[in-house]
Amino acid sequence: MIIGAGYVGLTTGLALAYVGHKVDVIEKNKEKLNKLKSKTSPIYEKGVQELIELVKDNINFWEKPDEVIKEAEIVIIAVGTPPKKNGEADLSYLEDAIRDILKKINLEKDYTLAIKSTVPIGTNNKIDNIIKEFYREKGIESKIHLASNPEFLREGMALYDTLYPDRIVIGSLSAKAISDLQELYKPILQQTFTPPSFINKPNAFNLPHLIITDPTSSEMIKYAANAFLALKISFINEIAGLCEKVGANIKDVARGIGTDKRIGISFLNAGIGWGGSCFPKDTLALLEFAKEIGYNMPIVSAAREVNQRARKAVIDKLKTYYGDLREKTIAVLGLAFKPGTDDVRESPALDIIKILLNEGAKVKACDPVALQNAKKAIGINEKINFFTNPYEAVEGVDAAIFATEWPEWANLDFVKLASKMRTRLFIDGRNFYEPEEVKKAGFTYMGVGR
Ligand code: UGA
Repeated sequence: MIIGAGYVGLTTGLALAYVGHKVDVIEKNKEKLNKLKSKTSPIYEKGVQELIELVKDNINFWEKPDEVIKEAEIVIIAVGTPPKKNGEADLSYLEDAIRDILKKINLEKDYTLAIKSTVPIGTNNKIDNIIKEFYREKGIESKIHLASNPEFLREGMALYDTLYPDRIVIGSLSAKAISDLQELYKPILQQTFTPPSFINKPNAFNLPHLIITDPTSSEMIKYAANAFLALKISFINEIAGLCEKVGANIKDVARGIGTDKRIGISFLNAGIGWGGSCFPKDTLALLEFAKEIGYNMPIVSAAREVNQRARKAVIDKLKTYYGDLREKTIAVLGLAFKPGTDDVRESPALDIIKILLNEGAKVKACDPVALQNAKKAIGINEKINFFTNPYEAVEGVDAAIFATEWPEWANLDFVKLASKMRTRLFIDGRNFYEPEEVKKAGFTYMGVGR
């Protein structure tokens, strides 16, 4: 049984159903639940719709755990832990989920309970105490075997990362929980399933590592992994800024350092910085947690600072060209925080739009799938118009900022774009295009660090 049908819960549920398990997914949100019940994906995520149809005999969706908790053997909690105003993780959904389970649990039966939600360090131990107390009050020994089981999937690649992970981490002090989860993930650990035709197994894929540790270390792995990836991007963005000052090319520099196996080439794409529901939230939560226990984390702090600077750098580029942005109209191409998703949470594009509006500019915002979420996030503003077609979005603009590297925009017709724009200024916030290609169409091209 999985509680929560967000990106993590739903994709984990579908992947586990695909490899042969019987899965029940609990989702409180009625709109989402109705969609799932009618075999429609509530999220924009590669392969999810296909898999919902393919595994329909192995997966069921419910509003409450009541009807299925008694039969369940393993319960995975994958509810959201969004940031509160002060940056701390809001654990109320997690607490609700635990309460709902305890209310209906079969007291005679053993359960393995895996916490997949990203939770502050120490949460698993606190939950363990709550559960033990619950059983103590009933005068019986706890039959819930707790484990921390973080996820490492990327939005847009969620099913791929779930079926072909680098590692599976189990943090538990219970031998039963460890062996249950090992058994659950066995088809993935041993790659014994036939890959779905629409989520191909990568070439030269090594079997995933299995990392068994204590709950606190497991929680730490999740935060440390995200913080490290975030700072890797911020590092390359910091170097990109220096490249601009001295005329070096960040693409070559990234390749030059990334081919060193100790560094690695991935997550060295310089650009307008990282967004999404994970890196911003998790780095902030880590800092808050560290502050609470009186520990200074200057590296994580600097990663966040550099990330904000990356967004502002785009505006500075526009200003070096125009001086003043009042009455200028700027197209922002790409609103999702990364391609492959309609998620705009903490999207660098939205921050850039906010700054542009504050500077008095008008904005033409464009995205192939994230418009609905973007409109909700930005709210009504007469100075912004929305488009799905980039050629329509750039009509009469004074510059275009390219913010999300949608693959469907890989072959933009720059001559056509140029013919529509008032001024041919193209700021490639993702270093997605060959500068020469863009310049050939008469553009002034500005990338990040090149
Ligand atoms: C991230 C991690 O990559 C996952 O391993 C983790 O499970 C997930 O957070 C989570 O905690 O749930 P996600 O936020 O979905 O996944 O997406 P990423 O692919 O990591 O991208 C994050 C941001 O970094 C995006 O805005 C992306 O554009 C940016 N990025 C990424 C760069 O600017 N440069 C890069 O080289 C890579």
